[in-house]
Amino acid sequence: MIREFAPAKINLFLHVGGRRDDGYHNLESLVVFGSVGDEVTVDDEADSMSLEVKGPFAAALKDEHDNLVLRAAGLFSKLAEVEVRARLTLIKNLPAASGMGGGSSDAAATLRALSRLFPGRVTLQQLWNAAGELGSDVPVCVLPGCWWMTGRGERFASISELGTFDAVLVNSGVAISTADVFGALALRTGEKRMPRPQQFGTVAQLADYLKVGRNDLEPPAREICPAVTDALEALSRSNALLVRMSGSGGTCFGLYPSPVAAQAAAESILREHPNWWVTPATLNRGRKWEIQ
Ligand code: C5P
Repeated sequence: MIREFAPAKINLFLHVGGRRDDGYHNLESLVVFGSVGDEVTVDDEADSMSLEVKGPFAAALKDEHDNLVLRAAGLFSKLAEVEVRARLTLIKNLPAASGMGGGSSDAAATLRALSRLFPGRVTLQQLWNAAGELGSDVPVCVLPGCWWMTGRGERFASISELGTFDAVLVNSGVAISTADVFGALALRTGEKRMPRPQQFGTVAQLADYLKVGRNDLEPPAREICPAVTDALEALSRSNALLVRMSGSGGTCFGLYPSPVAAQAAAESILREHPNWWVTPATLNRGRKWEIQ
């Protein structure tokens, strides 16, 4: 049985530039991954390929017949020229359609798991090249790390300067369609380039750097889903050093100077909003990922 963690993806900033000929937008984003996430397991003692979805947010995917995990397994099969006879299980701990790249990270975890099951068949570069077929965010999720992401999402460079820091992730429970948010986008600032991050001595310095940036998808997401504004406001009242939305929303995050501060903030937000999904998370913890 192979297990792969599928961590939450967080866009520390997300600038959207022009619309391209292929209909997608050029982006500039600093991407990190969190200590919370979904899990994909692969059991190869099976006669055919199947998928079972479990976990607290499984219900949101129950009518989805084209799950990204199955599509990723299909893609791997094609690249590796193997028939994948395996029982796949997705444990869905993250809310769906929530701006944390859950589906993308699940797909990427499936690619990693199958690379371990069929070692030496597909190179990391092949996975990176092909993963964009599954979604714009999937390539960056293939090896969770700290990435400077550009293009539609297919170009990314490793950023080693950032270190580990503490956050609270907040989602009010409303699923948001990425296509709808891009569709409602009016202002694009992607052309204004952010300087690359340096090594920051404190989380406050990191927050000051990030304050220069924005998430351009925040205004349209707030328009489509007013609960995003509620989440941002709740985080702002919790002594966060920086508050932003991730991806196309609705998950918002705050950065804190310590794990204790993040825990206290999460508890106070949960007291105010017991029905929300609220969790402290360590971001950019660093971890060794195996391909092949
Ligand atoms: O690639 P993915 O299927 O995740 O994208 C979902 C939608 O988000 C696309 O259909 C497109 O409307 C929008 N999108 C975009 N530019 C990007 C990424 C996504 O316009 N770079």
